[in-house]
Amino acid sequence: MSASPLPQEILRHKRDGLQLRDGEIHSLVRGITDGSLCDAQIGAFAMAVRLRGMDPSETLTLTLAMRDSGRVIDWRAFDLPGPLLDKHSTGGVGDSVSLLLAPMLAACGAYVPMLSGRGLGHTGGTLDKLEALPGYRSTVDIDELQRVVRDTGLAIVGASSELAPADARLYAVRDVTATVDSIPLITASILSKKLAAGSQALVLDVKTGSGATLTDPDAARELAHTLVAVASKAGLKASAWITAMDQPLTDRVGNALELGAVLDVLAGRAEQPLLLSLSLALGAELMTAGGLASGWSDAVGRLRKALASGAAAERFARMVAALGGPTDVFERRNRHFAPAPMVAAVFAERAGTVTGMDVRRIGMALVSLGAGRSHPDQVVDPRVGFTALARIGCRVDSERPLALVHAADKHSLLQASDALRGAFRIVDETSQRELPLLHERIAPRATEAA
Ligand code: URA
Repeated sequence: MSASPLPQEILRHKRDGLQLRDGEIHSLVRGITDGSLCDAQIGAFAMAVRLRGMDPSETLTLTLAMRDSGRVIDWRAFDLPGPLLDKHSTGGVGDSVSLLLAPMLAACGAYVPMLSGRGLGHTGGTLDKLEALPGYRSTVDIDELQRVVRDTGLAIVGASSELAPADARLYAVRDVTATVDSIPLITASILSKKLAAGSQALVLDVKTGSGATLTDPDAARELAHTLVAVASKAGLKASAWITAMDQPLTDRVGNALELGAVLDVLAGRAEQPLLLSLSLALGAELMTAGGLASGWSDAVGRLRKALASGAAAERFARMVAALGGPTDVFERRNRHFAPAPMVAAVFAERAGTVTGMDVRRIGMALVSLGAGRSHPDQVVDPRVGFTALARIGCRVDSERPLALVHAADKHSLLQASDALRGAFRIVDETSQRELPLLHERIAPRATEAA
């Protein structure tokens, strides 16, 4: 038996731009999983891949090795009466689609075992939002995950020691080492979790625009093609939509604040038009792929009905209770969310119409408020964020602020207010063209189909 290569030798190969052999990739992923690689080596690996890239075969090998760092869920014994469907996004700000879409799909007859992530770089994380609920357990064993999915139709949890553990560790290091925006690392991170969850069809939401992980439209397209091709080669039916992240999808951002926005939409108390439109589009893609609808308009009709009837809200409440969260999440939500100690309006320096914003900057302002992390063990503050965020096309002046800032203390409030002022593009004219939310659909090429 040949000895495992030394990690520093493998790192040197990638640093120098060489193609890694399968054995080298397996050895690194084993080291990430069993703890024999330290965080510095993981950071060096992530940076070498970020700078040197990986070719398609290395990306596939990394994805499969990360999937196999834990177990792959086998659903056959459950004999579920509906398809196993899943969705994942490459990350955005105010992007709570997973929280809205998963219960809508469950209410339409799908089963959704969704392995999600925490905040990554400037983007928010589904798990951080759910953990704003006291008691919510996002780390569960496979038996519990399967039971919750069987009983409620969905479970939104994280990578764990059993499911894609290599991603849990690599993800935390990438978050704080400026190594998020890498096509092979994003692909392996997302698909290792999705393949481990054992779903039958997946839709990928690949963001483009100022708040996307990859802001360049060509890079977003390449990422979408890579995700769909690697998923297909790994046997998972997948398609992708390239969608706009040129403003947050909700007018409230921050962990508890976004969760509150989703609860309002589920309960029919408020509208978040961008969030709903995108959820319907991605949901229609999945419902059609999973055989739950005859086509796009049938799927959209069913999803809307699931929302309007309260069936989606009921699914969400059951999942939260089953995973240790409150049993009265809709009825007594104010009891569960502590407000931030300080709330203040931030006004633009001049009156005018918002024509654009630097969404990445808004995301980083959220991180500095405490909604995200600057080192892997940091605990996020669920209370902080922005509400009443001005949208593109909105007029701001001395009466209408850019947003309300929710902060833990005065220093972070002032810092976030400054960042926010610098993030908005404001002009005199009032007319505004509609920006498309859905840019392009990416399907597997004939030679790739799963
Ligand atoms: N979501 C993930 O799970 N991983 C990434 O790298 C980006 C988005």
